[in-house]
Amino acid sequence: ASEPLVLGIESSCDETGVGVVRGTELLANAVASSMEEHVRFGGVIPEIASRAHLEALVPTLRQALDTAGVTMDDVDAIAVTTGPGLAGALMVGVAGAKALALATGKPLYAVNHLVAHVGVGVLEGGELPESLGALLVSGGHTEILRVGSLTGDVELLGSTIDDAAGEAYDKVARLLGLSYPGGPVIDMLAAEGNPKAIRFPRGLTLGKFMGTAEEPGPHRYDFSFSGLKTAVARYVEDCRARGVEVPVADVAASFQEAVVDVITKKAVLASQEHGLRNLLLGGGVAANSRLRALLAARCASAGIGLRIPRPGLCTDNGAMIAALGSQLVSAGVEPTGTEFGTDTGLP
Ligand code: KG4
Ligand code: ZN
Repeated sequence: ASEPLVLGIESSCDETGVGVVRGTELLANAVASSMEEHVRFGGVIPEIASRAHLEALVPTLRQALDTAGVTMDDVDAIAVTTGPGLAGALMVGVAGAKALALATGKPLYAVNHLVAHVGVGVLEGGELPESLGALLVSGGHTEILRVGSLTGDVELLGSTIDDAAGEAYDKVARLLGLSYPGGPVIDMLAAEGNPKAIRFPRGLTLGKFMGTAEEPGPHRYDFSFSGLKTAVARYVEDCRARGVEVPVADVAASFQEAVVDVITKKAVLASQEHGLRNLLLGGGVAANSRLRALLAARCASAGIGLRIPRPGLCTDNGAMIAALGSQLVSAGVEPTGTEFGTDTGLP
């Protein structure tokens, strides 16, 4: 087999992921999550995540190699997430990957987490189209990217200026007294509610932020969800002050509609204005049923091809890091070496 065998290590948030790929073939995707340890806090606690990575890294590595049926001897290269993410969490993966590279003499590639969310697409449906945009929505990030090439030409078109989309789901769920993580719960509840019941604000969609295609405003492709969260909080407080029951399903559906309306509109707009004929969706929020439906509809009417990797490849995992590493090896990109920190730009 001439295809490179690449091991990928991910530790930017609460998932410790180790993946193994050969070329564009997925061999293993072992993931240990510290999610349960964060539940009682209603969000990821960095210190707890770092400690959990330290405990989980070696067992997860062993599991991935076992599943793939390979040993470190077979591995051609190691790839590791260097950012963006939680500094302490990243350091565990980076230090582990450096140790592994030094001990085995294998080349090490430092990769960008966001670009890897896109690179994972090669594991399903093969090579990525040349004209590609990406919409990444998770608990930690919310971005629109233009992806010219996975090996260098990646441009951040827009991102959230406050909360990430998943974070907004988690915070609103908390306001409504629902469990963490809030995304799946709100998604389910929303199915029984009326998305038009309450008109919640669409962040950064006013003319002064959007501008025009010719003269873009300061936040044409950016997102903001904190105003929406506040509007939900006010609505809930108001219900309670008036002694009426909070219509939870309607609030969930209306909140979800506000989030999904803006992210799908801006993703399609950015794709159109940059001549991108394909869009890849990634991140944990990609599991959202309304987001999938509305994005599919809006992409279809704009003539944009939509790619959504399966859920296990959309959430944070090691296979996406291995997949991007494998692209870098195949493209003849020089390894990063072992002298780097956790703060690398795109890609
Ligand atoms: O990518 P991911 O697993 O990890 C991090 O960002 O750390 O994404 C997790 C996020 C959480 O905020 C969760 O509430 C959200 O994705 N999420 C969803 C759904 N499933 C997970 N949000 C909306 N709808 C869903 N079905
Ligand atoms: Zn991610």
